[in-house]
Amino acid sequence: MEKKNIDWASLGFGYMETDYSFVANYKDGKWDEGTLTSDHTVTLNECACVFQYAQTCFEGLKAYTTEDGRIVTFRPDLNAERMEDSAKRLKMPVYPKEKFIEAVKKVVKANAAYVPPFGSGATLYIRPYMMGTNAVIGVKPATEYQFRILVTPVGPYFKGGVRPLTVRLSDLDRAAPHGTGHIKAGLNYAMSLYNIVDAHEQGYDENIYLDAATHTTIEETGGANVLFVTKDGGVCTPKSDSILPSITRRSLMVVARDYLGLDAQERVISKDELDSFAECGLCGTAAVISPVGKIVDHGREICFPAGMTEMGPVTKKLYETLTGIQMGRIEAPEGWIVEIK
Ligand code: PLP
Ligand code: COI
Repeated sequence: MEKKNIDWASLGFGYMETDYSFVANYKDGKWDEGTLTSDHTVTLNECACVFQYAQTCFEGLKAYTTEDGRIVTFRPDLNAERMEDSAKRLKMPVYPKEKFIEAVKKVVKANAAYVPPFGSGATLYIRPYMMGTNAVIGVKPATEYQFRILVTPVGPYFKGGVRPLTVRLSDLDRAAPHGTGHIKAGLNYAMSLYNIVDAHEQGYDENIYLDAATHTTIEETGGANVLFVTKDGGVCTPKSDSILPSITRRSLMVVARDYLGLDAQERVISKDELDSFAECGLCGTAAVISPVGKIVDHGREICFPAGMTEMGPVTKKLYETLTGIQMGRIEAPEGWIVEIK
């Protein structure tokens, strides 16, 4: 299979049309078989529930080329499970896990020419999503749905590649207690758009949200979980019911404990403790682990001693081990790597 003529190394995190997407429709209480399509547009009634009441959720995972030329994905079962949680919370039908994984395999295989080569610094981003498609004007869930998967080759999420970020503690909230912060609903991102544009205008790369009830503990950013390295070389990450259960973060905790022998804790983290950490990173499928050099809390600057000019040593080990597993250089725990043949 010949790869597309793309300058992989200069890709940013953007959308590019590929050859195929996957589409399945839900009607009369059941999903159809689903198929590949080369139509990358969606035409719906003006009153579709997704347009009026934002009934939509999504997922994000990647396909990688390994050193020996295989194409693999990373823990797609966890994306299927999280999408099930999202769908249930938004009163949408569940797209079954086995069918989800099959659809991911099918659409990646059909777009194999777009999976960036090993060592190029790029990957194929896979975006499954679902929406309520029929017309509703009273506030209620749709009865018809579309599940789609689009894929697009991407480079680093943050402009400038892997470089220490400057982030601010946010005054605006992302997710309420007992709200929807723990699922991947489009609405969580719509309400963050104002704040991310404002952050960029003020010279910050991202917002770190605090818990909405007390504004005293660290939650996550608009598109990634947060991870800290303590001064004695342990790893810790916020525990909260209103953050997205990041698959990258959960995997990194295993990497920290089982591969690097580090103490790794999930616990409530106060904004007053920020000074006590040695390193900080943002972790997610898109972000991988992006090092944070500085957090600004209304004029108070927290500079991480390791990581102002480059990735700190522990963050680097975590990054190299995780990406080593994802790209097949390091043996993965059972079931983490799913090969696409
Ligand atoms: N938190 C938010 C708000 C996200 O959008 C993402 C991206 O998916 C993450 C965390 C990281 O999750 P994952 O590692 O599963 O990609
Ligand atoms: C991902 O990492 O997959 C996400 O969905 C984050 C998004 C902000 C691009």
